[in-house]
Amino acid sequence: KRRSKIRNFSIIAHIDHGKSTLADRILEQTSALTQREMKDQMLDAMDLERERGITIKLNAVQLTYKAKDGEEYIFHLIDTPGHVDFTYEVSRSLAACEGALLIVDAAQGIEAQTLANVYLALDNDLEILPVVNKIDLPSAEPERVKQEVEDIIGLDTSDAVLASAKNGIGIEEILEQVVEKVPAPSGDPEGPLKALIFDSLYDPYRGVIVYIRIIEGTIKPGEKIRMMATGKEFEVIEAGVFTPKPVKRDELTVGDVGFLTASIKNVGDSRVGDTITSVNNPASEALAGYRKMNPMVFCGLYPVDTNDYNDLRDALEKLELNDASLQYEPETSQALGFGFRCGFLGLLHMEIIQERIEREFNIDLITTAPSVIYRVTLTNGEEERIDNPSKMPDAQQIEFVEEPYVKASVMVPNDYVGAVMEICQKKRGNYLDMKYLDANRVTITYEIPLSEIVYDFFDQLKSSTKGYASFDYELIGYKQSKLVKMDILLNAEKVDALSVIVHRDFAYDRGKVIVDKLKELIPRQQFEVPVQASIGQKIIARSTIKAIRKNVLAKCYGGDISRKRKLLEKQKEGKKRMKSVGNVEVPQEAFMAVLRMD
Ligand code: GTP
Repeated sequence: KRRSKIRNFSIIAHIDHGKSTLADRILEQTSALTQREMKDQMLDAMDLERERGITIKLNAVQLTYKAKDGEEYIFHLIDTPGHVDFTYEVSRSLAACEGALLIVDAAQGIEAQTLANVYLALDNDLEILPVVNKIDLPSAEPERVKQEVEDIIGLDTSDAVLASAKNGIGIEEILEQVVEKVPAPSGDPEGPLKALIFDSLYDPYRGVIVYIRIIEGTIKPGEKIRMMATGKEFEVIEAGVFTPKPVKRDELTVGDVGFLTASIKNVGDSRVGDTITSVNNPASEALAGYRKMNPMVFCGLYPVDTNDYNDLRDALEKLELNDASLQYEPETSQALGFGFRCGFLGLLHMEIIQERIEREFNIDLITTAPSVIYRVTLTNGEEERIDNPSKMPDAQQIEFVEEPYVKASVMVPNDYVGAVMEICQKKRGNYLDMKYLDANRVTITYEIPLSEIVYDFFDQLKSSTKGYASFDYELIGYKQSKLVKMDILLNAEKVDALSVIVHRDFAYDRGKVIVDKLKELIPRQQFEVPVQASIGQKIIARSTIKAIRKNVLAKCYGGDISRKRKLLEKQKEGKKRMKSVGNVEVPQEAFMAVLRMD
């Protein structure tokens, strides 16, 4: 039977342990396409993905593998994104599989994301096949890493494949293990349809392309379907698989992984994790695990050139078509004019959207410092959700403020425990736990406000541990905090886009750091500019940007021509990212500086 020959699996790994390289090798050994053709086909949609070396969108490829037993097997290799911002998408693509290859770098060993991904795979009852990769490296210690996988994860590693994705070692053994150990899909092809949506993508010609795994039943073009979470109904136009080019099929049935189109206009109507059923023979219950994705991090996006406002709106509309978790609404700032308040799953998601707007739509942006959602209970008993610090009500009206917390797990070699604790402490963390993984490495767990994580936590962690720390976090809910709004005044005028929420005990120090930083970042103007930080009416810190000395300018303009040109070019470049606030020219970096701690 065909179904007994299907194997659905993912590759899970910590970033840089070799997931993409191994996927390439597997593709080469199981399909007629060369690696180059494959790359062009699979990745051309996303330059950004290639450049940053991270996986943003999931992919599902159907491959055929002729095993040593002489039989031909159908593999569906489902790719997963490798970043904490996209954990939910990872968990849904794993739910489309029966097995997972767990890649661990033979030199690095287990890292925070290795564990996070293993837990997701275990949640989905997957068969996990350990693979120790990069055994070609001189620093590889495959035996030690195998032992680590046994000790820390509790997997039997006696059959673990020792591989080098780079040099093509161990690939066939991996494929044979997939055949042998990953269970074939089970389910009733005649039963009521249940198809899991694990990704979707907007195509301007065909509407939304929905990536699905059929768990029960069969789906055919022409059939009426219903999205169980949203209740929306559509008629299937095409169904098919990716090889990796899309190939149409007459039907998809139990165990199949592929796509459908149904004139769906909006990715919001085909949400990741939702169940598709048929209108004529509907399933009584949806598949478990559906969750609506809510943005966690917000910031203001403003065009540098106010004439770009409409273009910016068009850009956001286009990006939203492809990204159900991007949110935006118009916002006005006294300082920056008309723009949008945008919500993202996390910082990486935010950076990706900003970069795409600048690159693909050619709009220069001013972005304000990222903020989380604060829950404010007013003295009159009402509760407000604040995603923009400048909107924080006056202190007299506030009963208490709550902020989102995460449980952060940091994995480091022993030597850096002190450094990690220092950062966590500085970020208002509460120590929870410390566990030795082996003689050499430790997992440290802290409870930390999300607002402290969203800015440069990871950067600081990396730099103070020489890159050895790995990090993962999950949200644990809201907690009350002594938070206040700090305003920043330039030339005695409050700049709403620079307001920031800070903990009361840290307010003076933060205020001092911010005004000093702004003094450094804001170029000298024709006049002296006082920079002040205030809480309510009270000024808590101050610095002064001195006026330009006229003769400096004169000298520059009198100098030789190439130097003058350079100066002009530099000014032009600088101009692009400056915004006039009142009568002070403020560069982009200044808006981020309010979150800086050093
Ligand atoms: P993300 O896409 O960022 O999650 O990373 P990834 O896990 O997909 O890792 P990727 O395949 O991009 O590999 C990361 C780096 O390790 C690249 O520079 C690869 O060339 C290298 N690499 C992968 N496999 C091997 C291997 O077997 N041996 C050696 N020496 N290097 C490898």
